[in-house]
Amino acid sequence: MSISAKTKMCIIIGDPIEHSLSPVMHNAAYKALGIEDQFVFTAAKIKVEDVKKTIKAVRILGVHGLTCTIPHKIEAIKYIDKIDPIAKKIGAVNTIVNKKGKLIGYNTDWLGAIIPLEKITSLKNKKVALIGAGGAARAIAFGIKNRGAKLKIFNRDVKKAKKLAKDFKADYGSLNEIEDVSDYDIIINSTSVGMKPLEKQSLVPKKYLHKGQIVFDIVYKPKKTKLLKDAERVGAKIIFGIDMLLYQGIAQFEIYTGLEAPEKIMRKSLEDNLKK
Ligand code: ATR
Repeated sequence: MSISAKTKMCIIIGDPIEHSLSPVMHNAAYKALGIEDQFVFTAAKIKVEDVKKTIKAVRILGVHGLTCTIPHKIEAIKYIDKIDPIAKKIGAVNTIVNKKGKLIGYNTDWLGAIIPLEKITSLKNKKVALIGAGGAARAIAFGIKNRGAKLKIFNRDVKKAKKLAKDFKADYGSLNEIEDVSDYDIIINSTSVGMKPLEKQSLVPKKYLHKGQIVFDIVYKPKKTKLLKDAERVGAKIIFGIDMLLYQGIAQFEIYTGLEAPEKIMRKSLEDNLKK
């Protein structure tokens, strides 16, 4: 046991939290870099009404990193000292770092979506169809527009699509217009459709997918969702949800430690745990 009185604590809070893969991913990275005596990453299930008290406790205990997941990414903003301009624009923080008692909030979710896309394409002037208008969609929409792509947001509740589209200067439509995606270079699913219990479903009929497109599903369990299977069958390039999880985590690791993240090790820890 290398944990000592000097070890810095990082904690992910959410509700639910048991499924979170952040602790395994970060602790695997600490171990790989030989810094498991300096950092430890744990998780706590926190109710929304307890976020204020939790952040007070972070200050008192000198917790180094506070990772926020659903449903705390918006609520936490109220209680921190400073918010990075990008996180402010997105309207959510997933990464709070304690810098000598000052709590500074960042958002790394948008990088989780943009980095894997930019590994295979430039986004400038590309046509991107984003399905969903929830919390994850907000971070993705920011990233897509930040890189100069054209964006249309499709959502079941069209009012939510309209609001998001207004915030990020995008087009919007309902799921009745989903056939439009055949005209888009990149299709991103940011809804929970494709995840259990909806693992047999996809919001995009296969006939609207084709070769030359990039299809990205942020659902990571199952690894290959129905949407990704259909996309692969027609010859489209696919990006797995695990990549978003990985790259938001890598950016967060670098904020918490100031070190370059060991990408391969972090990916392996996610892959291994998702098989369980
Ligand atoms: P997250 O923060 O993970 O994005 P969220 O904010 O609850 O989660 O957003 C969930 C998204 O999935 C929404 O866009 C939601 O559509 P509505 O805004 O119409 O509710 C979408 N979604 C969830 N279940 C869906 C379903 N069965 N069919 C279509 N869209 C669905």
